Amino acid sequence: MRILFICLGNICRSPLAETILNAKLAAAGLHAEVDSAGIIAYHAGEQADPRMRAHAARRGYNITHRARQITQTDFFRFDLIIGMDADNQRALQQLAPAQTAHKIHTAVSYCDKFRHADAVPDPYYGGDAGFEYAIDLLEDACDGIIATLRH
Ligand code: 4NP
Repeated sequence: MRILFICLGNICRSPLAETILNAKLAAAGLHAEVDSAGIIAYHAGEQADPRMRAHAARRGYNITHRARQITQTDFFRFDLIIGMDADNQRALQQLAPAQTAHKIHTAVSYCDKFRHADAVPDPYYGGDAGFEYAIDLLEDACDGIIATLRH
């Protein structure tokens, strides 16, 4: 299975999701290929936002991803393409070749504890609470993804 997480800049939410899922896969003894990418190329080549890395590190997650923009090849290569919010979903639906559109999902659709959340909000312009909430949501979503992989 190949799983690609998507957010706008690929410096906060999606590299966090990639890191959390890799940690949970290792803990579960499962293997999948996991990557992340952004809708925009603005931060391409950069490490994740230092605030995101600091909050993640306090929960035991070491984010090492370098930002990149999604490509057309990604839609064919990956089995699941998982966005963070409605803006991501709209952009992905516009970019996706028609025969790959069924691969597009939202992170919150995998949530259990946070099943009423409608998005993983962009923490970029907010404070500490936004980064902590993104971790809470994406830990829950990654548990759900692991559960679907077991089936
Ligand atoms: P992300 O957060 O989509 O979670 O990586 C953002 C980071 C940067 C920008 C937007 C969102 N930006 O526009 O620079």
